[in-house]
Amino acid sequence: MDRKDVGILAMGIYFPPSCVQQEALEAHDGASKGKYTIGLGQDCMAFCSEVEDVISMSLTVVNSLLKKYNIDPKLIGRLEVGSETVIDKSKSIKTWLMQIFEESGNTDIEGVDSSNACYGGTAALLNCVNWVESNSWDGRYGLVVCTDSAVYAEGPARPTGGAAAIAMLIGPNAPISFESKYRASHMAHVYDFYKPDLASEYPVVDGKLSQTCYLMALDSCYRQFCNKYEKIVGKQFSISDAEYFVFHSPYNKLVQKSFARVYYNDFMRNCSSVDDDAKEKLQSFSNLTGEESYQSRDLEKASQQVAKHLYDIKVQPSTLLPKQIGNMYTASLYAALASVLYNKHDSLNGQRIVMFSYGSGLTSTMFSLRLNNGQHPFSLSNIASVLDVTEKLQSRHETLPEKFVETLKLMEHRYGAKDFETSRDTSQLQPGTFYLTKVDSMYRRFYSQKLAEETCSGKTKCCNGFANGH
Ligand code: ACO
Repeated sequence: MDRKDVGILAMGIYFPPSCVQQEALEAHDGASKGKYTIGLGQDCMAFCSEVEDVISMSLTVVNSLLKKYNIDPKLIGRLEVGSETVIDKSKSIKTWLMQIFEESGNTDIEGVDSSNACYGGTAALLNCVNWVESNSWDGRYGLVVCTDSAVYAEGPARPTGGAAAIAMLIGPNAPISFESKYRASHMAHVYDFYKPDLASEYPVVDGKLSQTCYLMALDSCYRQFCNKYEKIVGKQFSISDAEYFVFHSPYNKLVQKSFARVYYNDFMRNCSSVDDDAKEKLQSFSNLTGEESYQSRDLEKASQQVAKHLYDIKVQPSTLLPKQIGNMYTASLYAALASVLYNKHDSLNGQRIVMFSYGSGLTSTMFSLRLNNGQHPFSLSNIASVLDVTEKLQSRHETLPEKFVETLKLMEHRYGAKDFETSRDTSQLQPGTFYLTKVDSMYRRFYSQKLAEETCSGKTKCCNGFANGH
């Protein structure tokens, strides 16, 4: 079987229509003006209303991807989910998604869920790519789903929430293919962000530590990535060897700092990507120890300043969705990739994108993608048109911060609860969207789909096989 250029053939995104403007949230929280918008670099934050969750979002995104690319569900041979939002400690989100495939008689699908903070989606993606590249591959597609609702307790981390689900179809001859040899990981044991309280959806966060861990992991991955590249290609790797750098994006400021850090790495390795002016400005930081370099605010500022012109070209196109939606945990990195595809699809042929995935705790990987225009329906231009980002962003409903806080309070009570019905209010949902209707006395969850032909009457109907007992 032909297995050249294994990678992402198709992509879909779903994010909730409810969102809160960061400027309004800033004022509501009594934060100083500009703290969330300039300080964190965020514009807006999506959140799940009481009728949506990670299961409904993943049902929506998978169903929509299969339809929009006209994929027969029987052609999926592996389905992997990445998520850190715990709804059930045993039953995987993948099993809920099986309803879509059971309907067509396909139950022969390998894969379950992967979890480690924001990294689970990358683990799922690498599993699927490895499967297609392995002897176990049966010729069918892999499907990866990243789905998360990022919510934080009241406090400084709350504006770094968000929610979304991404689906990616994996196979050979892909327009977005893996350069599998250039891949480097850094994994370690730290307590920077974790979820030990099983009665709460909120994480325990050591915010400052998580920022340093992220940058240390980035350094380690980049160093090893460069070493591997140099061994194989026989020349030094630097920022100039990739057209785009896409980072896991908890909030945009950290992405700005990350690219500056990569630039500082290039400076320390004496790469030609760093011009003379930048060399002069960074010279006084060349003797810092690793530890000192993470603490130096002056270095942070100087490297951001000298890297700014390259940030605007190589990173800025990836920031659209993460700035508008917020941290989507496992989906964040892939929403950033989707932003590049959406913004630049007609000029990506032959280009390279370097990706950096980070999940607290910690796990991280840097990997490389090579792009080609592809063939319809698996072409970059079709992926961009299916993503339909502008329309999706424009049709959202802005919510007041008070309503956002009220929703989170309600969800605190509902988390881990049984025996309740939701309002079934689907007025904000687009036709085709799945939503939660109830959780019964045995904690079983029931979902329905808002159907297209019923939107005029405002009514919704249960979809076959998804609402048993309803
Ligand atoms: N105008 C402009 N900028 C401002 C203003 C203002 N009025 N007020 C503050 N700022 C800046 C600060 O200078 C700082 O920027 P800098 O980092 O460039 O110095 C930034 O806003 C943040 O302010 P801080 O006071 O440093 O941080 P805060 O206590 O608000 O917490 C944090 C920020 C740590 C990111 C918090 O939101 C958090 O814990 N989030 C969750 C953890 C996280 O996302 N970690 C990232 C990796 S792990 C993961 O992906 C979950």
